[in-house]
Amino acid sequence: MSNTRAHVYVTRRLTPAAMTRLSELDAPVVVHPDPERPPTRRELLESVRGAVALVPLLTERVDAELLDAAGEQLRVVANVAVGYDNVDLAETARRGIAVTNTPGVLDEATADLAFGLLLAAARRIVEADRFLRTGRPWAWAPTMFTGLDVSAGATLGIVGLGRIGMAVARRAHAFRMRILATGRRASSPEAADLGVVAATLDEVLERSDVISLHCPLTPQTHHLVGPAELARMKSTALLVNTARGPVVDEAALVDALRSGSIAGAALDVFEDEPQLHPGLRELDNVVIVPHIGSAGAATRDAMGLLAVDNVAAVLAGRPPLTPVEP
Ligand code: DGY
Repeated sequence: MSNTRAHVYVTRRLTPAAMTRLSELDAPVVVHPDPERPPTRRELLESVRGAVALVPLLTERVDAELLDAAGEQLRVVANVAVGYDNVDLAETARRGIAVTNTPGVLDEATADLAFGLLLAAARRIVEADRFLRTGRPWAWAPTMFTGLDVSAGATLGIVGLGRIGMAVARRAHAFRMRILATGRRASSPEAADLGVVAATLDEVLERSDVISLHCPLTPQTHHLVGPAELARMKSTALLVNTARGPVVDEAALVDALRSGSIAGAALDVFEDEPQLHPGLRELDNVVIVPHIGSAGAATRDAMGLLAVDNVAAVLAGRPPLTPVEP
């Protein structure tokens, strides 16, 4: 690429609406050509060279090496995700590079998936589907595929009651669940209106029938749910993770699911994506989907558009719309 005008480097093709918005930017745009796979590290380091803006996904690690490769003209990293654990904020801050994310636009889609996973695990929907596909004979029976009665006062524990956690709480309230929650909004009037009771992590672990994780991945939340925490959960409890894989110690979770020390799990995210702990594929009591929490078509449009609008703002010398504070 010619370096006569600094470009915007986009690490994967976005939705058509966001691609159109990209084409309206006042800068050349370079998009990683293969929509099926992320750029390799080498491709990334090469393509970012000379860029004024970088539009990465959560699959790209934005660290000192990448920022060095980009060069001093880089002004903004516009992550197409609400989570930004892939970005080294100390490095971007040190270099005066703005970082933006996509908060607000994916709360409902992610909460829909979390609640879908909750219901799938509670009522063993995927397991029952797999059974039917075997073609084995069956007849209606009182104990066949019995699971958790979600709407009969089951307790949901929300770990990290932020925007997405609150959207999950709204769904749980409509299902007449009892709701315990940790996090900054757990004692807010809005949470109280939904019947949310603020709780410690230990209380959530010990008292919940289903635990749903909605905290960001930080050094403090890495392996927040490990062997000790899993051991505190009820043997009938279910764990839902649509947050970030490393919040859970995946090997410990596989052990807990295998031994029956908890009843089940439903996972959208994994510790070492796109790898899965091999045990997960073998277990019947876990539902696994490939990080599709925000995969509503309109939501993905909104995420891409917000990322591009953040780039446009910074390139025009305006403050970004949704900056991440270092
Ligand atoms: C995010 O935005 O952080 C999600 O994990 C991807 O949708």
